[in-house]
Amino acid sequence: MAIDKVGHNALNYQSKTILSKRQMKDAENYLPGGVTANIKYFAPYPIVMKKGKGAWLTDVDGNSYVDYLMGYGALALGHGHSRMNDAITEQLNQDGTHLFGTPHLKEVEFAKKIQQYYPSIKKLRYTNSGTEATQLAIRIAKVFTKKKKIAKFEGHYHGGFKEVLYSINPPLTEAGAIDRPIAVPESAGVEVDGLEPFILPFNDVEGVEKIISQSHQEIAAVLIEPVQAGFILAEQAFMDKLRELTLKYGIILIFDEIKTGFRIALGGAQELYRIDPDITTLGKIIGGGFPIGLVGGREDIMEVSSPKRGFDVFEAGVDGKETAKDVLFHSGTYNGHPTILAAGLATIQELEVSFPQIVNYTMELRKRIEEVGLKSGIPIRTYGAGTVFNVVWNEEKKLRHYRDLLQSNTMKRKELDFELLQLGVYTKPLNRYSISAAHGDKELDHTISAYENVCYCFKEGSGVS
Ligand SMILES: Cc1ncc(COP(=O)(O)O)c(C=O)c1O
Repeated sequence: MAIDKVGHNALNYQSKTILSKRQMKDAENYLPGGVTANIKYFAPYPIVMKKGKGAWLTDVDGNSYVDYLMGYGALALGHGHSRMNDAITEQLNQDGTHLFGTPHLKEVEFAKKIQQYYPSIKKLRYTNSGTEATQLAIRIAKVFTKKKKIAKFEGHYHGGFKEVLYSINPPLTEAGAIDRPIAVPESAGVEVDGLEPFILPFNDVEGVEKIISQSHQEIAAVLIEPVQAGFILAEQAFMDKLRELTLKYGIILIFDEIKTGFRIALGGAQELYRIDPDITTLGKIIGGGFPIGLVGGREDIMEVSSPKRGFDVFEAGVDGKETAKDVLFHSGTYNGHPTILAAGLATIQELEVSFPQIVNYTMELRKRIEEVGLKSGIPIRTYGAGTVFNVVWNEEKKLRHYRDLLQSNTMKRKELDFELLQLGVYTKPLNRYSISAAHGDKELDHTISAYENVCYCFKEGSGVS
């Protein structure tokens, strides 16, 4: 058996995905690395998909997979759900256009629905991605507080732009002390230049208190994934303390709920922790698989972007008006796109019915994966909440933050992922599992039987062929 450097059975993978390999080679002629987003890549090459239906994906070689990536969690209803398809056609038929470029009715209808589940959101703005949403949230916080820096947590991801591309997956040798992490750049073009964020230790009350109390005059906002990477839960006492400290020091608390919104609970992590953040960012699920992001929060904070406060950038200089600096300029041709809002609304309405059933599937899947681990002697555990979780290959240790995750055996988890891929269970290696309304008994049985196959073979040390 040929084992490549990540340890999986490379020959087998390649023999089952010949056309994917060929397609990726061709893609490299047109796209850097053959991909349109760096997260889509994994070695030796990613699988190229051709069709999606319900909970299933089919690749270009004709292999079928139960999909647990679900568009990185964006697809709460699965692929091609009829309610979504109907909502899109209905919007087009009813409105006669898929882009008004003016205010329209769905913008407010959708905002009311969001407010129903996220009462901390008094006013909101739409964006076209999660990245844009966190970027806007930070801009708003800086303008509102008149402070220049932010603080983020080690191990937390907030999108692909300079201000937040620090200490997401830093090597321990560069990451500093556990209670006082150092900002480690995570991309070319990102430096430690004095404007890098303060890096906070997740689930560490004393560590966070020390850093915030020393540097609060510089910190406009604390940005947090309340459930790290969608599966490592914050402790309640930690979240309560964070809320207390940010209020005490006039720091804007931003909950980045792009992964957790409508997944941890319909009302996201803020429902679970019973905490009102000052600003929330949402994305993924709320667009039903179409590009969207949203920033919402306290009225006085969000109002900094109101054009009624002054002039906008295209009016400055006209009629003797000289400046646009009173208003935080936020714009986007596609913001509040009617088709996307229709798709998002249909998703939320369907979730209002099916969310408990998706949670039940998730709990049953997690229980049965852990049972397989226990019976086969493979130390896999699941972590998460609501309709999202991850499988971690670790011994007894409790998982509380990024550095604990580093102690787990990611090589083995990757091996497990590659073997499961070959048995028709899909997630990007090492990624979390996102469950949809389309997952049912058939998918559960298929997944567990693949886990049994892989784990028992692992135990015998024979690999899976
Ligand atoms: C917590 C969090 N914030 C921000 C983003 C960026 O969102 P997008 O990929 O839509 O730009 C993501 C994406 O995975 C995310 O999980």
